[in-house]
Amino acid sequence: MTPLDPVEELGIEREALPRHIAIVMDGNGRWARQRGLPRLDGHREGAKSVRATVTHCARLGIEYLTLYAFSLENWKRPKMEVAGLMALYAEYLIKERDEIMENGIRVLHLGSRERLPDAVLRELDVTLEMCKDNKGLTVSLALNYASRAEIVEAVRCLARRVQAGELQPDEIDEAAVSNSLWSAGVPDPDLVIRTAGEMRLSNFLLWQISYAELCVVPTFWPDFRPEHLNGAIIEFAKRERRFGDVGPVAAQVTDSPG
Ligand code: FPP
Repeated sequence: MTPLDPVEELGIEREALPRHIAIVMDGNGRWARQRGLPRLDGHREGAKSVRATVTHCARLGIEYLTLYAFSLENWKRPKMEVAGLMALYAEYLIKERDEIMENGIRVLHLGSRERLPDAVLRELDVTLEMCKDNKGLTVSLALNYASRAEIVEAVRCLARRVQAGELQPDEIDEAAVSNSLWSAGVPDPDLVIRTAGEMRLSNFLLWQISYAELCVVPTFWPDFRPEHLNGAIIEFAKRERRFGDVGPVAAQVTDSPG
């Protein structure tokens, strides 16, 4: 018996899949607290959800996945937690290399390199170089990322180009801004998932998610499994995306004579 296509299993057409999914992985701390465990145990368990989610997206044929792993604001956390998280990222970047190559995954870094420990930068660079020609799922690891800082950098970069006479102010359009962001070259997300129930954007991809569909799930990130991702994708497939237009049903009503 031939196994069912994983997209068919969802009961949706392949065209209805989001091309780019972005996830705010929240709730690691609460997951740990509920169990009387240190917060780092929640992050460690969260790393398992990262693996399961990446593999599942690759299997479904999703083209882009962006994961919010560490924000510039997260440096305010206790030193022990930050150090533990940094060690976890370095470890993850080493441990997942086989899985990344077996699944043809390309990893990109989204964020600033400033303040990241040498060990993380080293493992990041090895992983990025190793998988740069892979043609499957692109995973953007938002590590040391903040959307406002990204926009400020883009504005500075455009201003420098104007100052150098390479660009006229009137030539700055939406595409020029998009192409100056750290995320340049990656299409905007279609679906943003936030776990653990909070209704916030937390300085995540503010420019890029202008027309994304939002899906907030109550599940804590360490409990997030492929079935939760499937649920969000099915919900996404049911949404009518209008991009500021009225949508086909309203258009029919307006266009109908009399
Ligand atoms: C938010 O939960 C989570 C983070 C700030 C870190 C995300 C890190 C992981 C998912 C670990 C593994 C990631 C990779 C890429 C290997 P929180 O601590 O804010 O949870 P809380 O709101 O319940 O306190």
